[in-house]
Amino acid sequence: MDLPIPSPDPIPVPGEIGLILFLLYLTFFVHVVLMNTLLGGLVLTLVSEVISRRGSSPESRHRHEHLAEKLAHILPFVVSLTVTFGIAPLLFVQGIYGQFFYTSSVLMAWVWLGVLLLILIGYYSLYLYTRGFARFARRRYWFIGLSTVMFLTVAFIYVNNLTLMQTPQKWLAIYTHTKGSGWHWNLDEATLWPRYLHFALAAVAVAGMVVLGLGLREKEEERGRFMRRWGGNWFLAATILQIGVGLWFYYAVPAHLRAIFLEQEGPARTLFISAHVLFTLGSLCIGLAAYGRAGARTGWAGIAMILVGIAEKIINRDQLRQAYLRDVGWSFEALPTAPQHDVIALFFIFLVAGLGLLLWVMFKYRRETSSPS
Ligand code: HEM
Repeated sequence: MDLPIPSPDPIPVPGEIGLILFLLYLTFFVHVVLMNTLLGGLVLTLVSEVISRRGSSPESRHRHEHLAEKLAHILPFVVSLTVTFGIAPLLFVQGIYGQFFYTSSVLMAWVWLGVLLLILIGYYSLYLYTRGFARFARRRYWFIGLSTVMFLTVAFIYVNNLTLMQTPQKWLAIYTHTKGSGWHWNLDEATLWPRYLHFALAAVAVAGMVVLGLGLREKEEERGRFMRRWGGNWFLAATILQIGVGLWFYYAVPAHLRAIFLEQEGPARTLFISAHVLFTLGSLCIGLAAYGRAGARTGWAGIAMILVGIAEKIINRDQLRQAYLRDVGWSFEALPTAPQHDVIALFFIFLVAGLGLLLWVMFKYRRETSSPS
């Protein structure tokens, strides 16, 4: 069947495909960890906000108010970093998969452009929550609630677009049906909901891990214990639910495409299996640290294992996308390349310098805020 896939961009990819893919994985990994911290952090802040009002004991209300305030102070920074670290993978995705990504973005143009507005509303309401924590004490839950809904919707739109880009078989019918209006949601996609829930639950798990990490560093003993337990519980609950959602997602992917994960020998299978081994061991360590059965080192080791597992899953996610696209006759051979190593070197220099600057600012900020003056 002839599919309406545009020709690749005549401007060649400015580097070897392997290098561009590496940069895509590297920058997308940072985006995913930040985005998970943001989405899950919003959910956990909202929950703590509710408990701080309706909790059974004054002690629990007080603890949750403290946690909500702590998280709320971190989250606006996380929004800006999530957005910044979204731009880099966006460039690499466009460089490699432009033919697919642009087309799906055009088919759902208005929904896709809506992301900007939703991020703006989400960001402002988060600021109102954080800055007006004391001033709007009675009504502030509206702000955190609105922000959570906005960012969860942004994530949903991303999943819509990224699933639509890999199924060009559907494009012509969508274009005909919507008359090119740009109003389309990819709701008939079998993997849409499990994929979205997979991201949402991962976000809650990662945010739980962040709270556990804050608890591991907390100096005040009672408060530290509470954060370790609370964060660990959210991590474990989300990860247990993930088993069901993960299976749903796996079986929603057409059988001949998901075969790369278990049935066919190759790097996808190695990554898939080792990621799950790491998730199991990491969860065990996190559980032990959360319940005080092991020390902080075990907790940090668990967090490190989960992060490596996430990195492996990010590569797996792209291998699956390549399998989808191979199915419609596409391959990397279709792309003209003209490596510009000077530009790539500049990118690396700015990336390292930018990250260094960011760490320096964070270090200075911590020093300033922890000094008695
Ligand atoms: C701040 C709110 C944001 C949230 C909650 C969010 C969430 C997500 C989610 C859930 C995905 C995965 C979708 C999937 O694979 O099905 C994703 C992918 C992606 N996001 Fe974000 N995102 C946000 C902002 C941004 C921004 C502002 C940019 C760019 C300027 C961006 C760039 C990307 C790119 C390029 C991908 C796909 C990478 C790939 O396919 O390899 N994101 N995002």
